[in-house]
Amino acid sequence: MKLYKELAEWWPLMSPHTEYEEEAELFLKIIKRYHPAVKDALEFGSGGGSNAFYLKKYFSMTLTDLSPDMLAVSRELNPDCPHLQGDMRTIEVEGTYDLVFIHDAITYFTEKADLLAVMKNAKKHLKPDGLLFIMPDEYTETFEPRTGHGGIDKDGRGMRYLEWSYDSDPDDHMLVTEYAYVMRDRDGQVTHEHDSMKAGLFSMPEWDALLAEAGFKAHFERVEFSEEPGTYFGIAATQLE
Ligand SMILES: C[S@@+](CC[C@H](N)C(=O)[O-])C[C@H]1O[C@@H](n2cnc3c(N)ncnc32)[C@H](O)[C@@H]1O
Repeated sequence: MKLYKELAEWWPLMSPHTEYEEEAELFLKIIKRYHPAVKDALEFGSGGGSNAFYLKKYFSMTLTDLSPDMLAVSRELNPDCPHLQGDMRTIEVEGTYDLVFIHDAITYFTEKADLLAVMKNAKKHLKPDGLLFIMPDEYTETFEPRTGHGGIDKDGRGMRYLEWSYDSDPDDHMLVTEYAYVMRDRDGQVTHEHDSMKAGLFSMPEWDALLAEAGFKAHFERVEFSEEPGTYFGIAATQLE
């Protein structure tokens, strides 16, 4: 996506970290219920580092992402966290962790084999009693076509976006989100861009079966956001062996 490459510098205006405070606290409550003694965490697909900004108050966080441009954005917000570049299916980070945390970055996988590779790689990076927490945006059971918008003004620049998610083929494991971005730079120049993103759409039994194959027991936990319409579930995945 252009958003994670040439448009990455606009990310803090499109999705400011302050919009993540509530969800980070909700995720923390679930994580603590399954692993009260988390001291260190590894995040896959940490993006702009917005969840990490809040979670790092409770445990140390090592942040990883595929995109060097997004890692640069996160380094500004989280200069105190180590940042590493890599694909969550294959990245090898030294050591093992109490928690592997994967937020919305899991969304970009539309093939079960890729999800399985991520889960197996997460297991490799966990201590024996470590927890994998995944927060998929959508499940087959909860998905509803949606239109949303957002963005802010900051330091003389502004960005607004419109997003539109739809399921073009109910028989595949995929939905599409179209993004329209409008950016106004400090000199007043206005530009616009478009991204089209494919996202995975899997049912809870499919997540359950994949996690079991990777050596986890999945616990689906309802997450209730105060301002986000829709039904959301995080997955606290404990290790089977
Ligand atoms: C929406 S952002 C994540 C925002 C993050 N949850 C936060 O709290 O700020 C999604 C990120 O997933 C990353 N990503 C996509 N595919 C990936 C992969 N295969 N491995 C690692 N990161 C990936 C993108 O580069 C992007 O930075």
